[in-house]
Amino acid sequence: VHPRPPERLPLDGVILRRYRADDAPALATACRASRAELEPWMAWATDEGLTEAALAAFIAETTARTAAGHEVVYGLFDPADGTCLGGCGLHHRGDAQGHVEIGYWLRSDATGRGLMTRTVAVLCDLALGLDGVTGVEVRCDATNTSSAAVPRRLGFTFTGLVAREPTAPADTDHEMVWLRTGPVGALSPHP
Ligand SMILES: CC(C)(COP(=O)(O)OP(=O)(O)OC[C@H]1O[C@@H](n2cnc3c(N)ncnc32)[C@H](O)[C@@H]1OP(=O)(O)O)[C@@H](O)C(=O)NCCC(=O)NCCS
Repeated sequence: VHPRPPERLPLDGVILRRYRADDAPALATACRASRAELEPWMAWATDEGLTEAALAAFIAETTARTAAGHEVVYGLFDPADGTCLGGCGLHHRGDAQGHVEIGYWLRSDATGRGLMTRTVAVLCDLALGLDGVTGVEVRCDATNTSSAAVPRRLGFTFTGLVAREPTAPADTDHEMVWLRTGPVGALSPHP
């Protein structure tokens, strides 16, 4: 995805940085506090998936995949106390069109204030500045309205529903595809 992804991305009031090996406990705490909201949509939000050991393995694996240029994952942290507030990433699915995909989740008590919308705007513009990237996709289940609201708010275009195997408990057999081919730029104030 990126030859040398930035360690940290600019975002007002929040730290958006790549995970470090010692983030596993904070990540586990955030995910466990959000289990009810994550479980329907994230296949990894299970008892086994949310142990510190599993999350330490996730950090190690994604760090290796970043070094290989396949993806880059960032955590959101509260600058006041280091609490993990969520996560997001750019994933290269190997498609021939030059599209990359953004995935995300928030700690439940960090929702409802536009944090993920602002984060996805930053990640989208980072991705569109990379060599060979012609578009950024957000893919979410056909019924995941909170997730779809993020790309909609940022002016992504809904390109349609595609069939796919469900992986998480609330998944249907179709996902929405949202696409943006130009940078989001500065966001106008939230109404
Ligand atoms: C998807 C998810 C990250 C969306 O969280 P969210 O809080 O709705 O998203 P944001 O942080 O962008 O906040 C948007 C909300 O804040 C409000 N808001 C307040 N200030 C805002 C601002 N400055 N800018 C944008 N929105 C703002 C918006 O109106 C919106 O609230 P509403 O839905 O009641 O209208 C969250 O629901 C989640 O983690 N779900 C579980 C995991 C998941 O489904 N991930 C996606 C898989 S594809």
